[in-house]
Amino acid sequence: MKKLSQLSKEELQGKRAVVRIDLNVPMGEDNVVKDTDADRIRKAQPTIDFLRSAGATVIILSYIGRDPKESMKPVADYMKIPLYPLIGFDTSKLADSPVVLLENLRSDPREEGNDPEFGKLLASYGDIFINDGFSICHRAYASVMQIPKLLPSYAGLQLEKEIENLNRALNPEHPALLIMGGAKFETKLPVIQKLLPLVENIFIGGALVNNFFKEKGYEVGQSLLDATAHLGELVNDPKIVLPVDVIVQNDAHSDHGNPGKSATTVEPADRIVDVVIPDVMKDIIANAKTIVWNGPMGNYENGFTQGTEILTKMVAGSEGFSIIGGGDSVALIEQLGLEKDFGFLSTGGGAMLEFLAQGTLPGIEALG
Ligand code: ADP
Ligand code: 3PG
Ligand code: MG
Repeated sequence: MKKLSQLSKEELQGKRAVVRIDLNVPMGEDNVVKDTDADRIRKAQPTIDFLRSAGATVIILSYIGRDPKESMKPVADYMKIPLYPLIGFDTSKLADSPVVLLENLRSDPREEGNDPEFGKLLASYGDIFINDGFSICHRAYASVMQIPKLLPSYAGLQLEKEIENLNRALNPEHPALLIMGGAKFETKLPVIQKLLPLVENIFIGGALVNNFFKEKGYEVGQSLLDATAHLGELVNDPKIVLPVDVIVQNDAHSDHGNPGKSATTVEPADRIVDVVIPDVMKDIIANAKTIVWNGPMGNYENGFTQGTEILTKMVAGSEGFSIIGGGDSVALIEQLGLEKDFGFLSTGGGAMLEFLAQGTLPGIEALG
């Protein structure tokens, strides 16, 4: 894989760079990007600056959301750069403004269709291609897969950092700890299986743990379960650490929430919504040299943030190298002002999980 960081000023001077970034940022109802939503935009800036300072012009490609009608306009406004339609971009516009953004790639179905003709159109706007969108490298779409077939292509600065840091998770310093939360078992189970032989402990929280409790024969009441998950031997693996107490919600009681109850005493009308971080985790975290974390510990959006917050503070206090991904988790860390206490915050959610499970991603392979 060739890297942007290895290109000299002379090689970039006067070049038009088509740059794939993931500007798929969360946005409130008001359709305005706020500083707290802009992590991915901030992390793309070094690549844009690197190209500009070498005298290259920049045509940014991205999609936003999943609705093809959604516009990139709020992102262009936040970045204070002009926005142009995807089709028929006139590159002479770069003389007025050397950094431009094109409209939502998903507005054209050929993006998701990985259409070679669409790739050709996008590639025609530039002389070189930079992929700096780690968080979309798991998507085999035209902007990711086709452009590198047509232009000299390089990994951007953030993509390079993501690969380097996530490789530390795959070759961890020991003792190593994996923390898994969230809800989507089908995306998390391959990571648990891949990292199990590489780490000393795996702590399970979030809705994932409900499946473990169920398979152990505990009552889980109304809790969210993944019916498709087959845990097999994993349930009794000595490396797996489960919470002892959980926080439940019960429509019949108003006293839901703190302080939690034993996971073995959940009642049929209870819904597990968060976990209590067990004391044993203090030592495990304090001793860990590598910590990899993906997914919240509880039903976070509905106010059940306690488990995630306590764990965040524990991991922030650890001397080990911590790697964390997933939009929600990174946003929480920023709200708590703890980003400096983590080793690496990945921009990837699904992409981070797939990278950890497979050791690479289609978009990375496409760069050669
Ligand atoms: P991530 O986005 O970090 O990759 P997922 O998408 O798998 O993780 O899951 C995140 C979701 O899991 C959040 O919406 C959160 O509310 C939900 N969640 C976590 N724990 C629970 C729980 N006990 N019950 C219901 N939802 C939960
Ligand atoms: C993300 O937000 O994780 C990426 O932008 C991928 O988004 P997608 O799942 O809608 O393709
Ligand atoms: Mg998610």
